[in-house]
Amino acid sequence: MDRFRLGFFVLLCVFMPKFHAQQSYSGNSILKCDEDDETGPSSALLYTCNGEKPSCQTFLIFKAYPPYDSISTISNLTSADPLELAHINNISLSTIFPANKEVFVPVNCSCSGQYYQANTSYIMPNMHLDYFSIANETYQGLSTCKSIEKENSDSSLQLGSVLQVPLRCACPTRNQTLNGTKYLMTYVVDWGDTIYDLSNRFNTSMESVGDANGIDLDEAIIFPFTTILIPLSTQPSISQTIIHSQRPPSSSPVTPIDVIRPKKRFNVWITIGVPLLAIFLLLLLVFLYHKKKTSEAAAKDERKKWELPNDVLVSIDQSLKLYDFNDIEAATENFSNKNKMGASVYRGVLEGELLAIKQMSKAVDKEVCLLQRINHFNLISLRGACEHSGVFYLVYEFMENGSLRKWLRNKSCQKFQTWHYRIQIALDVANGLHYLHNFTTPAYVHKDICSDNVLLDRDLRAKIANFSLARSAEREDSRKSSIWSSLGTKGYKAPEYVEYGLVTPEMDVYAFGVVLLELITGKEAVFMQDGKEILLSEAILTIMKGENAEAELDCLIDPNLKGYLWMELAHRLLKLSIDCLAEEPESRLSMAEVVSYLLRIQLDAQRSEEPFPLEWHQKHKVNKCEYVR
Ligand SMILES: *[C@@H]1O[C@H](CO)[C@@H](O)[C@H](O)[C@H]1NC(C)=O
Ligand SMILES: *[C@@H]1O[C@H](CO)[C@@H](O)[C@H](O)[C@H]1NC(C)=O
Ligand SMILES: *[C@@H]1O[C@H](CO)[C@@H](O)[C@H](O)[C@H]1NC(C)=O
Ligand SMILES: *[C@@H]1O[C@H](CO)[C@@H](O)[C@H](O)[C@H]1NC(C)=O
Ligand SMILES: *[C@@H]1O[C@H](CO)[C@@H](O)[C@H](O)[C@H]1NC(C)=O
Ligand SMILES: *[C@@H]1O[C@H](CO)[C@@H](O)[C@H](O)[C@H]1NC(C)=O
Ligand SMILES: *[C@@H]1O[C@H](CO)[C@@H](O)[C@H](O)[C@H]1NC(C)=O
Ligand SMILES: *[C@@H]1O[C@H](CO)[C@@H](O)[C@H](O)[C@H]1NC(C)=O
Repeated sequence: MDRFRLGFFVLLCVFMPKFHAQQSYSGNSILKCDEDDETGPSSALLYTCNGEKPSCQTFLIFKAYPPYDSISTISNLTSADPLELAHINNISLSTIFPANKEVFVPVNCSCSGQYYQANTSYIMPNMHLDYFSIANETYQGLSTCKSIEKENSDSSLQLGSVLQVPLRCACPTRNQTLNGTKYLMTYVVDWGDTIYDLSNRFNTSMESVGDANGIDLDEAIIFPFTTILIPLSTQPSISQTIIHSQRPPSSSPVTPIDVIRPKKRFNVWITIGVPLLAIFLLLLLVFLYHKKKTSEAAAKDERKKWELPNDVLVSIDQSLKLYDFNDIEAATENFSNKNKMGASVYRGVLEGELLAIKQMSKAVDKEVCLLQRINHFNLISLRGACEHSGVFYLVYEFMENGSLRKWLRNKSCQKFQTWHYRIQIALDVANGLHYLHNFTTPAYVHKDICSDNVLLDRDLRAKIANFSLARSAEREDSRKSSIWSSLGTKGYKAPEYVEYGLVTPEMDVYAFGVVLLELITGKEAVFMQDGKEILLSEAILTIMKGENAEAELDCLIDPNLKGYLWMELAHRLLKLSIDCLAEEPESRLSMAEVVSYLLRIQLDAQRSEEPFPLEWHQKHKVNKCEYVR
């Protein structure tokens, strides 16, 4: 539980010039509860009163959870009018919302001093809450600890005391009104949200969301449990809402800002402590039981005694599930071919959820310990593990669309293999690597980025998988060893790794450059031509040095794509991949730069829905592809 209180973050995709931002984004500053800031409007409190009108009607999005899953309880919590609430959500007064369903809460937002706020009140139900948990948990981030504290400075936190809770809201500025914005809806960022998805869902543009929140070009970071404003030109419609996923990511890898909380309420720790203790005891029992079972089995048949390595058990105690081998066997129908998805990967339903089960004979501890520490939408999530007779089974989330490599080869997927999806996939992989390189402590290098290790989920969002070679970037491999060149995947290995065994984040950048080339060309990283094996990266670099570079590169672009976008965009992607493939590791782009370039490209791609411009057809009437044999 304690872990959950650390600051998480997700990288999100936005870029906006800062200069005419309408409000400024709070970032994780809302986590700081006991710093005084008397100097002026602070985004850590509420939105600044800068609108055209001092008050307006607007909407907040609240995610239903028991007991706040009915019109009466939600309107009681937020002081919203029950009839309006029912009307805007198109439901009857007695409907119960499913858990995590988005609910529009209509509120009156008005200036009070220098801030906008929607007033509500909250009766302390017990002694174990503090301002932070009321703001972040009860109100899901729609309020902040500082603003509740400010509003209630005279009263103390006691059972039954009535707190005034200001909810975060804002009214459109004059510029926004001129632009057609009628409402600024307050939305609390959730895991996996992107500005792109949100602006699509609520029929607005990424620019206006960026502008409304002062979210910046390159520092495109927004954090779960913070609010952003979504400009709307009409009332939101219930058809735009979704049910969020139930399972919050379980562990926090990073603390960008430590949560600084008032120290006085130690009873908070008691309430957290009791369940923690119970969980600990339970895990201890499971652990002892497991130990007993394995040793009994070993005693019985004199076989070598196997156990999950200690590190793994520690991880499993913390957040992963220890599966029973019988369940794994049942789930995969005794590892039947029918359930086989890859060399040693099976699908299986465990506790009602479809999952992927990987069989491994060695080295699971590193992967488990790494995956247990990191948590990012673009990195595969490990659910648990199991050991049986010296074989390990790792259980992961299931990725419906399989590996990127297979997907690119799959003719029946052609209609989805558009630029839109390819750029999103590149961006997903880049975000995952950016996170791994910069936001884990210690920083990690994946070491085996390739299109086989990029998996696609149902919505074609990409996640990086297979961390069995991953290692911390801190350790320096200065001496040559004879095994490194056999590790990693052919076609993706950076020159300094092949030659000196150097392991740095730049080797992932190189491999990413190759994956990007695969996305652009639809070719394999290693392909056969005239009976010879050709590395895609080398082929491209050779062409670049040649005379007819541009024409030859045009011919390399996946023929499936040509109808959909102008060459200009394709060239920018090619250029980006070439900048990742620089011979010298220092000359390569960083993943942060890659993410930022890709975001620009994605935005430009969205702007131009029109297919191929005419001039290009005219200019390229002749078939220049005869250059490429
Ligand atoms: C805020 O609340 C959410 C959901 O209740 C929780 O997962 C998260 O850890 C909390 N944030 C902090 C910083 O405690
Ligand atoms: C509003 O728009 C004008 C002209 O586009 C610009 O000069 C001004 O800075 C904008 N104001 C705000 C608060 O964004
Ligand atoms: C919520 O309900 C309680 C008791 O049921 C009541 O005292 C309180 O005034 C209500 N709050 C709001 C904002 O309606
Ligand atoms: C909000 O304001 C409107 C108009 O001023 C009023 O009719 C409505 O009752 C108010 N709603 C609440 C919940 O105070
Ligand atoms: C509202 O609900 C009714 C039935 O419950 C449905 O027919 C109608 O399409 C819904 N309206 C919107 C805007 O979703
Ligand atoms: C909201 O509460 C603040 C502080 O208690 C008060 O100054 C303000 O007038 C209230 N706003 C409305 C609309 O009641
Ligand atoms: C809103 O107005 C600004 C200028 O103030 C403009 O740059 C921007 O593109 C407009 N946004 C929309 C969504 O129309
Ligand atoms: C989206 O917004 C535009 C104007 O900004 C409007 O013309 C269009 O009808 C809206 N689409 C939907 C599905 O609401």
